[in-house]
Amino acid sequence: PRRVRIPDLQAAKREGRRWAMLTSYDTSTAAIFEQAGVEALLVGDSAANTVYGYPSTLAVTVDELIPLAAAVVRSTSRALVVADLPFGSYEQGPAQALATATRFMKETGCAAVKLEGGVRMAAQIAAITAAGIPVMGHIGFTPQSEHGLGGYRVQGRGEQSDRVRADARAVAEAGAFAVVLEMVPGPLATEITRELPIPTVGIGAGAGTDAQVLVWQDMAGLTPRTGKFVKRYAELGTVLGDAARAYVTEVAEGTYPGPEHTFDLPADPA
Ligand code: KIV
Ligand code: NA
Repeated sequence: PRRVRIPDLQAAKREGRRWAMLTSYDTSTAAIFEQAGVEALLVGDSAANTVYGYPSTLAVTVDELIPLAAAVVRSTSRALVVADLPFGSYEQGPAQALATATRFMKETGCAAVKLEGGVRMAAQIAAITAAGIPVMGHIGFTPQSEHGLGGYRVQGRGEQSDRVRADARAVAEAGAFAVVLEMVPGPLATEITRELPIPTVGIGAGAGTDAQVLVWQDMAGLTPRTGKFVKRYAELGTVLGDAARAYVTEVAEGTYPGPEHTFDLPADPA
């Protein structure tokens, strides 16, 4: 089957079919997730934390994300691959945003880019989409503005809800094909999803959005502490730790490698 394309996601919204997105930053997980039926893969700037070990997403650069996005594209044939524009690579204005988005499209083969911000980034979204590059918006809690927002907090409670609604409308009107709603109260996310003509992708936004996204290390149990909205579908940290411990023990004991892992001298074909 061919790759998922943006009209497929618009059709899914019309037909009420929900779809799933996961982050991916490498060849192994990209192939596994696509095989599992994940429709869209996000090469998120969360790679700052999950791949590069930075304390926040602010540090990761375009040059660090591009090779990861290229690997995910090379390793898939069906999933829609979206790449995050990192902090500092688009805020200056539409020209900077378009230049960065163009680099991602040329150098990675991804199908779309994502950037954070609603009303304040409408001009950037419009410039990128005018060049024929699909943009996914990202509003509500936006990790790149963690310091401006005063930490990881739910956005859109009480009087803030009008701001989140305005951001959603601005992103859609600027031409985005979908929008991530992060840490937004469930009822507000549901309402925005009904109002918007484009698909909403929730993370910490309840079940009323058109799609969901999670950081794969969070949902697979590789990160020690995760938000309330994360469900751990596996405990890979435990599984990998046990495997590594067993390997260390067997190497120390001399029980690995066994005869079945060892080449003989005469007439060995390999
Ligand atoms: O970078 C990221 O992983 C994200 C998603 C969690 C939405 O932006
Ligand atoms: Na991100």
